[in-house]
Amino acid sequence: MKAAVLRDPQEGLRVETIKTPRPRSREVLVKVAACGMCHSDLHVIHGKIAFPYPCVLGHEVTGEIVELGSDNDHTGLKVGQKVSGAFLMPCGQCSHCAEGRDDLCDTFFNLNRLQGKLYDGQTRLFGTDGEEIAMYSMGALAQYCVIPSTSVAVLPDDIDLVPGAILGCAAMTAYGAVRRGADLRFGETVAVVATGGVGSNIIQISKAFGASQIIAVDVADDKLEAAKQLGATNVVNSTKEDVHEAVFKLTGGKGVDVAFEALGRPETWESALNALSDGGRMVPIGLGAGVQTAGVEINRTVRRGQSILGSYGARTRVDLPKVIEMAAKGYIDYSRIVTRRFSLEDAGKGYDELAAGKIQGRAVVDMSL
Ligand SMILES: NC(=O)c1ccc[n+]([C@@H]2O[C@H](COP(=O)([O-])OP(=O)(O)OC[C@H]3O[C@@H](n4cnc5c(N)ncnc54)[C@H](O)[C@@H]3O)[C@@H](O)[C@H]2O)c1
Ligand SMILES: [Zn+2]
Ligand SMILES: [Zn+2]
Repeated sequence: MKAAVLRDPQEGLRVETIKTPRPRSREVLVKVAACGMCHSDLHVIHGKIAFPYPCVLGHEVTGEIVELGSDNDHTGLKVGQKVSGAFLMPCGQCSHCAEGRDDLCDTFFNLNRLQGKLYDGQTRLFGTDGEEIAMYSMGALAQYCVIPSTSVAVLPDDIDLVPGAILGCAAMTAYGAVRRGADLRFGETVAVVATGGVGSNIIQISKAFGASQIIAVDVADDKLEAAKQLGATNVVNSTKEDVHEAVFKLTGGKGVDVAFEALGRPETWESALNALSDGGRMVPIGLGAGVQTAGVEINRTVRRGQSILGSYGARTRVDLPKVIEMAAKGYIDYSRIVTRRFSLEDAGKGYDELAAGKIQGRAVVDMSL
């Protein structure tokens, strides 16, 4: 099959022919329809976050099940089903998974995120000469990918598979931030700092959960304009306005109950913290490019009873089906968020545009192109 392989950050992605993988116990083989292009991939492509090479990235996928591995009787999964695959692939066995905390799965972090393998300690991807190729999540920048059965959810027929690729990371991460990180309540006020792929979904999901005010903060006017279409009630361009002043003015001097941060830089942490009300919750989902730190004003946090509630992905097994339901019912307008489609061959160019801040919403690799 064809796959976009990363051998060296200096070279970038290169499409190669590698062996078509086979699913093992409690796994499925998916023929990829589309794969979303996430900012997290950029950290690996640029060599900022350590990951074994060669590897295949791509962790936000839709496609059709074409083969079941053994021991799938209990899953209800069948060949021919259209599915969404989530980046956060819980093992279902560790103590965190047993408590329902898929987002903390030790096996996923230790074997997949650190070593690029699945849960028998081996990769499913090999070059034609037998060379091992690491998998970032399921390695979906390819014609086929193997996904643990815990991490796929069946899609209704009316979900459009190509833009639907974003459900497995951008939308699910946003759902996790709103439902789990913030535990957002009807009528609360919200700021969303950085309205890219994930931030755009946070806006829509906050609206669906009943946020009374949604203030989008970004550095690009076109992205802020798009944010309004998705449900932002106000926008702040942080290159033109002071975020604290603007948000406090918009909220009658109070600040917001919840400030989501969706980029992972010191300046976006600062913007989110500066938007908070007394007792407010700051929910960061942005990942830094390697080890990064951000400043937190000690006395303000203490005296004003503010919290910082990190949120990674969501609880895949229960949350991915909810995300799909929200998309099917129109609460998540995933088609509107996807503004660009690239062929697998042009995936590298797409990531260059993402790195340059030129992608509004989300871009996807469409395997039919
Ligand atoms: N926690 C998780 O589970 C999880 C999952 C997916 C992605 N991520 C991380 O979330 C972050 C966002 O990913 P994405 O794919 O949405 O990124 P993206 O590239 O699509 O969007 C980034 C946005 O930030 C805006 N921006 C740039 N500088 C800014 C600034 N100073 N202030 C405000 N906005 C600014 C850009 O204009 C753009 O709209 C990344 O760090 C990614 O690694 C985390
Ligand atoms: Zn992602
Ligand atoms: Zn686990």
